[in-house]
Amino acid sequence: MVSKRLMGVPASGTIALSNLVSFMKSKGADIISFSMGEPDFTTPQNIIDACKKSLDDGFTHYTNSAGIPELRKAISTKAFYENNIHCTAKNVLVTPTKHAIFMAALAFLDRGDEVIMEDPNWVTYDAAIRIAEAKPKFVTTSFDDGFVVDPAKIEDSITPKTKMIILNSPSNPTGNVIPRETLEEIANIAIENDLMVLSDEIYENIIYEGNHFSIASIPEMFDRTITVSGLSKTYAMTGWRLGWAIASEENLKALDIIQTHSISCCTSFAQPAAVEAITGPQNEKEAMVKEFRKRRDLAVDLIREIRGLEVNVPQGAFYLFPRYAPKIRSEIMCTKMLEEAQVAVTPGSAFGPNGEGCFRLSYATSEEQIIEGLSRIKKFMFTL
Ligand SMILES: Cc1ncc(COP(=O)(O)O)c(C=O)c1O
Repeated sequence: MVSKRLMGVPASGTIALSNLVSFMKSKGADIISFSMGEPDFTTPQNIIDACKKSLDDGFTHYTNSAGIPELRKAISTKAFYENNIHCTAKNVLVTPTKHAIFMAALAFLDRGDEVIMEDPNWVTYDAAIRIAEAKPKFVTTSFDDGFVVDPAKIEDSITPKTKMIILNSPSNPTGNVIPRETLEEIANIAIENDLMVLSDEIYENIIYEGNHFSIASIPEMFDRTITVSGLSKTYAMTGWRLGWAIASEENLKALDIIQTHSISCCTSFAQPAAVEAITGPQNEKEAMVKEFRKRRDLAVDLIREIRGLEVNVPQGAFYLFPRYAPKIRSEIMCTKMLEEAQVAVTPGSAFGPNGEGCFRLSYATSEEQIIEGLSRIKKFMFTL
């Protein structure tokens, strides 16, 4: 019998859709997929070579649960200089980013605690909160305001049970980047109400306008923030399962207890490759971001020519979150699009009730696919 805490937690809609698309493609269907939450590039060769070397060197056993010292140091140095987070290697735990989010939920939430997060937002937060027997409290953002969160709404949602705020900038699914001033206002709210913040910064390097700002760089925020990020999106390393959490030593110890009892440590031979990713040449990372930007602009221009679709220009990540005019549920809209136009996009409702009326389109695919896919969507929209 499934546990009560798992009831009401659906399987990931985004992963289910990706699996369906792969299955349909394997059967020969000519599908254009805008459903991927991952770069379509290959991991840069210098990183692959570093991994091969560590295998050849026989680096194939358990490591320190928090990660090899060189990697913890590389991450803390990067966080110090790039994110202005005043941390050392002792504040870093190497772990897959998704696992970091689950560990944070299990380590810091008690049954009945409330966690404030945006709607629409990445669904895994909701699952992690529910599995920890806590309660998500949604703060809606709107298409018309570019999905920027209003700190006043966060403040209004606080109750004596509120324990944590989850932030994700740049955002999956909207691509929105939370402005620094807004993050500063949210920080003040967190401090005044003694709340923790889980800041998911996995898209921190995929930003086209403006700069990334880490809320943990505000000195009074460091002790109450768990910053999570990773290599998946920045270096096209989704299959490597490598990310990290940065936290105060005390909070890190709590996360490490779960790490030791769950995965023990990250894959040993992948960790020297992660050091190479962070400390080696960054030219491929920069080229990927340039390419994503070109694709974003292309996709936005093409969507704006489609009757019945509207789109914001997001400043980061590799997603667009267009709003469509027909009054049908996004799940039905996306199923019809897949069946009739053979284009896969993710229903907005997979990202919370307020995502209804929109769909997520990932432009982490080639320009040719973007042109062909959006031409199919254009024809499809005429049939509605
Ligand atoms: C917002 C966000 N956070 C975290 C993750 C998880 O990253 P990883 O696959 O590296 O665990 C994803 C992956 O799609 C994401 O979109």
